[in-house]
Amino acid sequence: MKQIRFILALLVMPMMAWAGSIKSPNGNIELNFSVDNTGRPFYEMTYKGKAVVKPSFLGLELAKDKHASKGQQETDLMDGFTIAKEDTSEFDETWQPVWGETKDIRNHYNEYVAVLQQQSQQRKILIRFRVYDDGIGFRYEFPQQKNLNYFIIKEERTEFAMAGDHTAWWLPGDYDTQEQMTQQTRLSQIRNRMKEAVNWGNSSVAVFSETGVQTSLQMKSDAMDIDGERRSLYINIHEAACQDYATMHLELVDADTKHLSEKLLGGSNAYTPDPKPSAWPLPQPLTFVSHLTPDATGLKGAMQTPCETPWRTVMVSDDARDMLSSNLILNLNEPCKIEDTSWIHPTKYCGVWWEMIVGRGSWHYTNDYPSIKLDQIDWSKVKPNGTHKANNENVKRYIDFAAKNGLDEVLVEGWNVGWEDWANMWKRDVFDFVTPYPDFDIKMLNDYAHSKGVKLLMHHETSSSTQNYERHIKEAYELMNKYGYDAVKTGYVGDIIPRGDHHYSQSMNNHYLYVIKEAAKHHIMVNSHEATRPTGLCRTWPNLVGGESARGTEYEAFGGSNPDHTCILPFTRLQGGPMDYTPGIFVTKLSEWSNNTSWARITIAGSLALYLTMYSPLQMAADLPENYEKFDDAFQFIRDVACDWDDSKYLEAEPADYITVARKAKGTDNWFIGGKCDENGHQSIIKLDFLDKGRKYDCTIYADAKDAHYETNPQAYTITKKVVTARDVLKLTEAPGGGFAVSLIAK
Ligand code: NOJ
Ligand code: CA
Repeated sequence: MKQIRFILALLVMPMMAWAGSIKSPNGNIELNFSVDNTGRPFYEMTYKGKAVVKPSFLGLELAKDKHASKGQQETDLMDGFTIAKEDTSEFDETWQPVWGETKDIRNHYNEYVAVLQQQSQQRKILIRFRVYDDGIGFRYEFPQQKNLNYFIIKEERTEFAMAGDHTAWWLPGDYDTQEQMTQQTRLSQIRNRMKEAVNWGNSSVAVFSETGVQTSLQMKSDAMDIDGERRSLYINIHEAACQDYATMHLELVDADTKHLSEKLLGGSNAYTPDPKPSAWPLPQPLTFVSHLTPDATGLKGAMQTPCETPWRTVMVSDDARDMLSSNLILNLNEPCKIEDTSWIHPTKYCGVWWEMIVGRGSWHYTNDYPSIKLDQIDWSKVKPNGTHKANNENVKRYIDFAAKNGLDEVLVEGWNVGWEDWANMWKRDVFDFVTPYPDFDIKMLNDYAHSKGVKLLMHHETSSSTQNYERHIKEAYELMNKYGYDAVKTGYVGDIIPRGDHHYSQSMNNHYLYVIKEAAKHHIMVNSHEATRPTGLCRTWPNLVGGESARGTEYEAFGGSNPDHTCILPFTRLQGGPMDYTPGIFVTKLSEWSNNTSWARITIAGSLALYLTMYSPLQMAADLPENYEKFDDAFQFIRDVACDWDDSKYLEAEPADYITVARKAKGTDNWFIGGKCDENGHQSIIKLDFLDKGRKYDCTIYADAKDAHYETNPQAYTITKKVVTARDVLKLTEAPGGGFAVSLIAK
């Protein structure tokens, strides 16, 4: 029966006249929308006449809930719809982000809205499409109405039918971690690769399907004839403005997709979902279906109208550089909600951090307690372990280093009591966020930092005990205000407490946003680790200056990441907002200064390039001060480079191969260029024609030496200085795993 419905649908769809049809402002993208003969809404998307998303259904399955009798809905929002009304409009505005890659951002789209009536239930929903030159966004909207007040989402079933067996750069779909190595396979090979792709070592793992992947998902089609040339389409699926809603994954659903619980991948805390398969027909082959993150009940969302889903986004271009310069995700978010943003600023920082990650020091203060209860310890009587790094002397050393090198802030982790048994113990009262260890003099250290023009950067590891953090948050932020901290790095290591919830559920997404809003009230910037992947909310809440939500530099101490990792992240993780990648490792073989045998697969020139290619208004110089002192001439670039920009030009890009970008520093005439490549090396030819005509620039080039190599010779670099103009061309060679960095200071 299911198969018959599917075949019928296929037959019906192409023959139907589209109800709504709309093009992007430049006409390259076309979006068509209709409902089929069973009342199921569907859409398709083309680029320069080529299929990007083939006809794909839209809808939501609703759950039966114990409150059903009190007006909760349970009939799915899947079919039985008629189009009651349609509207089209155009929008064009230019706005200025508080910080960003460019000074101005143009938000220009054509919009199509369909009001859909579900006659049997006497209720209506809207589907709103925005069609830009670089992609589309669409969402479901639920107006308040008698027959749709509260409802529970069992699953959102938004389909994205791909037009070919594209190459994809994907992470295993996981409700709790994004800290995996990206896999590069054809769509049809995701299933075969899944098991080895999962990062079982992470502190919280919950994979759900052999064919489930995360967004932002970057794809590339086989070459086709476009504008008289053989070109590929670059296609990216993600979401924008995910708030009060669960984070979306994508699942390739086909006849072999056994329902999740029958096909669990194993692992201690892999998720066991509702074993009943969906009653809806199978989609066409190579179709992604949205798969939301469940909460502790296994359901996907508790909704109260009026409300809407996040935007589902599909970016497309035949030029990979357009994937990186796109502002689609930001544009689909609401304008800034913070009135006075004067306290939000770009920040370069160092920190008491890398030496603990690498294992030479500890966050905790004592080794004498197998377990601690915060209210039962007199810390002044506890025996120190001698390895605690957040101590007055060491922190002062970092403050001095920051002051000497023009860094704005110093992150100090392990300053507060509770680290003795902090992770994965199901311990609720793990930290209080206000009590320093006895060797961390919070007043003295902040005063000392301020006297040198530096600030301390607060750290709140929550150990995923979220109610504990919410209980303490006001007091914690008041303490920050009292001592002059203006930024906090939060962390969510381990499974979520209360138990059963997941990092990317609706309830957790509400928690992260609550933290951002509470921080804004206290004029505090937020950099969230292990939180949900970003969806452009930093436009609305620009105090969200960074986040992790991917495999960061810390993994260089846990076995390392592949050299092409940072040539993929800008296409994927960075689409939704900046990443606190914590670049800048100069001594890549960690055994040179620790017992850790792991090593970073990058050259020094490559490390410098990341300050350009991994855009963020918050940039760390992650290595130890003494390691930077050994390479002070190369460190000059980190001292000089800006982290807020008036303009950005992506000069070269290919996912997993290379990225080259030139950026103009905010409020100046100075430019910086960074190029980063994979394990194969890369030749860059850079025309400087973006510089002001007739002007001279002092140009300093930090490049890989001829014999540089990320494995055998990572510290071989050259520094060349010359004067250049807009007529010059730079020819630069990037070593395997390397890169280059250039500063152009206007004369
Ligand atoms: C994981 C974070 O990514 C890392 O930066 C931090 O140091 C540890 N958690 C401890 O909070
Ligand atoms: Ca992490």
